[in-house]
Amino acid sequence: MSARTSIVVGGSGAIGGAVCALLAERGDHVVVADLRGAGEVARNLPGAGHAAVDLDITDLEDVHRVLGPEGIHRGADAIVYAAGVNYTGPVSTTDWDAYDRLMAVNLRGAFHLGQAASLDLERAPRPLSLVFLSSVAGLHGEGGGSVYVSTKFGLIGFVQSLASEVARYGARANAVCPGNVDSPLLRQLAADVAGHDGVTAAEKLREFAGATAYNRLISLREVAEVCAFLAAPSSSGLSGQSVVVDGPPL
Ligand SMILES: NC(=O)c1ccc[n+]([C@@H]2O[C@H](COP(=O)([O-])OP(=O)(O)OC[C@H]3O[C@@H](n4cnc5c(N)ncnc54)[C@H](O)[C@@H]3O)[C@@H](O)[C@H]2O)c1
Repeated sequence: MSARTSIVVGGSGAIGGAVCALLAERGDHVVVADLRGAGEVARNLPGAGHAAVDLDITDLEDVHRVLGPEGIHRGADAIVYAAGVNYTGPVSTTDWDAYDRLMAVNLRGAFHLGQAASLDLERAPRPLSLVFLSSVAGLHGEGGGSVYVSTKFGLIGFVQSLASEVARYGARANAVCPGNVDSPLLRQLAADVAGHDGVTAAEKLREFAGATAYNRLISLREVAEVCAFLAAPSSSGLSGQSVVVDGPPL
């Protein structure tokens, strides 16, 4: 059987990088796509046949250049959307530049990908699996997190709609909702909110770890395992779903 080709958008990030590594270990040809750093990630992957591409997911032309029906990486078997940005702050003092940035990367970027992939499916119908990183923040609102939360709620609605549209080609779309993942993004979040809450960043991180009965953070590998399962044909019965990767409630 020939190797599958999987594209990871945001592949230079913490979760995206873990997904690239796991898919490569399993024998996929991985295309690492990111604003920056994709070449280095691709060079360090196990196995052969990997590639890197610079991609700004907020730029529709760029997305079609890479993923559209004429794109340099058309015809993939799986695409994982692990690009994302974060920002916290109360609604009363919303930073509108940050708002625009989060909407552009977390939500509009997913639409760009969905459009390019849908058009490519029209050209070449196949059981493509699309996997989008949402968050538990896409399931429950949270004071101080309104912008991020809105993009992640929106992403789940988008995935359910896209799943319905691409089913006619035999393709699928699912969302992954990680809880607090041991990652630079979470450490930055802890540092950002710690001062506001009058605690240290380390205390804030411990609080995040204690938010579920696991009393620990979720590892990058645990998130990657679920993404890889959804990307693979073994999850062919799942589409339009949001899979939570988190410990049980307290
Ligand atoms: N880390 C967590 O605790 C956590 C929890 C739940 C959900 N998530 C979500 O998982 C995803 C990945 O998170 P992460 O921790 O790996 O973050 P990260 O910051 O490590 O990685 C994000 C990647 O997205 C890329 N990116 C940003 N803007 C881009 C653009 N315009 N075009 C292309 N690439 C772009 C960045 O360069 C970076 O490599 C995000 O959507 C995040 O919201 C993370």
